This record gives sequence, structure tokens and C-alpha cells, in this order.
Amino acid sequence: MGQVKDKKKARKAGAKTMAKRADLHDLYQAAVQSTEFEIEFYEKRYRELRGKNKTPLTLREDFCGTALLATDWCKSNPKREAIGIDLCSDTLKWGMENNLKPAGADVQSRVTLINENVLDVVTNEMDMICAMNFSYCIFKSRDLLRSYFVNVHQGLKKDGLFFMDLLGGTCTTDVCEEERDLEGWDASYVWEQTSYNPINHDLQCYIHFLFNDGSKLKKAFSYDWRLWSIPEIEEILYESGFSKVHIYWEEFKDNGDPDDEYLEGTGRYRAVRKISQQESWLAYFVVEK
Ligand SMILES: C[S@@+](CC[C@H](N)C(=O)[O-])C[C@H]1O[C@@H](n2cnc3c(N)ncnc32)[C@H](O)[C@@H]1O
Repeated sequence: MGQVKDKKKARKAGAKTMAKRADLHDLYQAAVQSTEFEIEFYEKRYRELRGKNKTPLTLREDFCGTALLATDWCKSNPKREAIGIDLCSDTLKWGMENNLKPAGADVQSRVTLINENVLDVVTNEMDMICAMNFSYCIFKSRDLLRSYFVNVHQGLKKDGLFFMDLLGGTCTTDVCEEERDLEGWDASYVWEQTSYNPINHDLQCYIHFLFNDGSKLKKAFSYDWRLWSIPEIEEILYESGFSKVHIYWEEFKDNGDPDDEYLEGTGRYRAVRKISQQESWLAYFVVEK
């Protein structure tokens, strides 16, 4: 009760709520990006598929948003270069001010940001191209998705790799809400799916942030996607000229309880061709040109 009064008093005194003080891109990066994991995952797959002593140096980050991954890629090795592509100039500007400039002049000189549609950009051939956090699901027809994949295919060196992720599971084809604490913040992150249309697989999703002072950022980010299936994506990748598609799945700890359906992830991924359905999963495509 006392806490509620304190919060009201603070608001009357003109104190800004936590929601008003928060930076949306900071929150987004903390909630859904883990670039250290991604870079290690890309390096491991590259060595497995292209040779133990091979190190990828060039990365194109499609739908790069704040270009956190492109920045961290170049920070991870002084020989690395990256290109980041995004339609939203404000998000790219934020990334320039908050990720690239603080990384220093050398890193900045090795990252090129392009404010364009990924479908229209022609880049030099890269070792790797990635499309993370399901961004390509904005392409809702096979033709559009194929145009994007053909562009990626052309943008890779002959032994280049393409990485992307996909969400799925029984709860993905329904309305649902998932909340988790945001580490290091007095806040929680909420993923909400408000509609799923089984006729065309349109999926409407939102990210909300809830703060410990009771303030909220509802619909901080919204996504109007087609929920593609793994076989549909595989087929379109092969139609676009790619030679081999690998699906990586997270390994789970066996909790020994046959009645407990909750599976705890290990953070380790392995290539699979057969797997049981789960409530929710995140799979990685690793695709060879
Ligand atoms: C889900 S965010 C992904 C951000 C980041 N890549 C990540 O992994 O979290 C999607 C981003 O794609 C951008 N975007 C949407 N359509 C695009 C297009 N056709 N071409 C380039 N960028 C696009 C949006 O501006 C937004 O920054």
C-alpha cells in the first residue's frame, strides 16, 4: 500500500515513470538479442561445413535494426567487415549513435549501413548473410520470399552460408502470451500473439514492456507476419538455388519426469531431420549456397 502511495506521490511531483524514461531500442536489444551466442554459433557452423581452420570474415546482417550484431561481429575480430541493411532510417541512426560510435573509429570504418529494402540491395559477395528474429516473415507470398532468397543467394560467395531463425510449436498457432523478467532491468518482457489465421497463416504479434513502478510500454513493437513452416522454407530455398539446408535444434535436458512436459534448453544446438513437436521452439536454418 505504502509503495502505491509513493508511486502516486512521485508522479504528482512530476517524476517521469520508468516507461517514459526507457529507451525502446535498449529494451529490445536486452530482451531479444544475444549476439555473443549468434557469432559463436555462426563460427562453429562455418568450421563444421567449410573446414576446421576457416574463419568467416564478412557478414551481411539483413533487417539489421540497430546493427548490434554487425557491430559485435566487427568487434570480435579486427579483420572482420559487416554490412547492415534496414528500411527504417531512425533505427539505423539509433544504432549508429548507440552501437557503432561507442565501438570506436576502427569498428565503425568496417561497418556499412544501408537504408533500403533488402529486396533491392545488391552487395559484394559475403561469407555469411543472416536474417534474425524471424524478420523475413514479413514476406507473405512464396514469390516475395523467393525473391528475397534469390537476392541472398547472389550476395554470397560460392562457399557462403545463410543463417536465419524460425519460431514454431503448438502454441505458435494460437493466441498466447509469455512473460519473463528482463535481466538487469526493473522490468519484464512480454511476447503476445493476438491472432493467428489458419487459412493464410497470418500471425499478429506484439512486444510489451512492464516496469516495476507499474508503468507500461504496450505494443512497443508489432509484427504482422506469415508463420512459415520449415518444409515450405526449405522448398523455397532450394527453388532459389541453394544447395543444402540444415536445421539446427536445441538439445534439451531430460528432467527424468515423464509427466512434466516442460523442457529446459541447454543452449547447445545440433542438426536434425526428425524431432517431436513442442509447445514452442526456435530453430536455426543454416543454408549452403
Ligand atoms: C524484427 S526486427 C529485427 C531486428 C534485428 N535483426 C534482430 O535480430 O533483432 C525487423 C527489422 O526489419 C526491418 N525491415 C522490415 N522490412 C524490411 C525490408 N523489406 N527491408 C529491410 N528492412 C526491413 C524493420 O525496420 C526492423 O528494423
